[in-house]
Amino acid sequence: MTKVTLTVNGRKMSGECADRTLLSTFIRENLGLTGTHVGCDTTQCGVCVVHMDGKSVKSCTILAAQANGSEITTIEGLSKGDELHPVQAAFKEHHGLQCGFCTPGMVMAATDIIRRHGGNLDEKTVRAELEGNLCRCTGYHNIVKAVLAANAEMYGAKQAAE
Ligand code: FES
Ligand code: FES
Repeated sequence: MTKVTLTVNGRKMSGECADRTLLSTFIRENLGLTGTHVGCDTTQCGVCVVHMDGKSVKSCTILAAQANGSEITTIEGLSKGDELHPVQAAFKEHHGLQCGFCTPGMVMAATDIIRRHGGNLDEKTVRAELEGNLCRCTGYHNIVKAVLAANAEMYGAKQAAE
């Protein structure tokens, strides 16, 4: 067993888990934060994306023990109380979800994409960057629209796709 301590959504949290426990399992089962989903468990679908020390990672790809001491943001940590994060608001506004299973991972990945590109985003880049996030419902079009709209909202950038 390993003791893992993380700062999750601004709060220090600890738990004991087996050495081989994945970060995604630790977040859901030890910390009870079930907004982070698990689909494939093999680094393919992207539903488990969280931010680790400010960068998006697939949390099924990392052991909880490897993440010890890091800062984690999950989907539960994005909004400010009742106020949605601009990426969440844009997904809602532009119908970027249907069943919602992929949505936490999409939103966390999109937030990191927008941050890394600093407002300089176009449709092609968003599609390429979201390659590791699978959605079985939407056909991606409205997801891409939502990401570009959030980018425009956050950086005042020109929306590149209608
Ligand atoms: S559950 Fe992590 S990538 Fe699918
Ligand atoms: S909204 Fe259903 S999988 Fe994406």
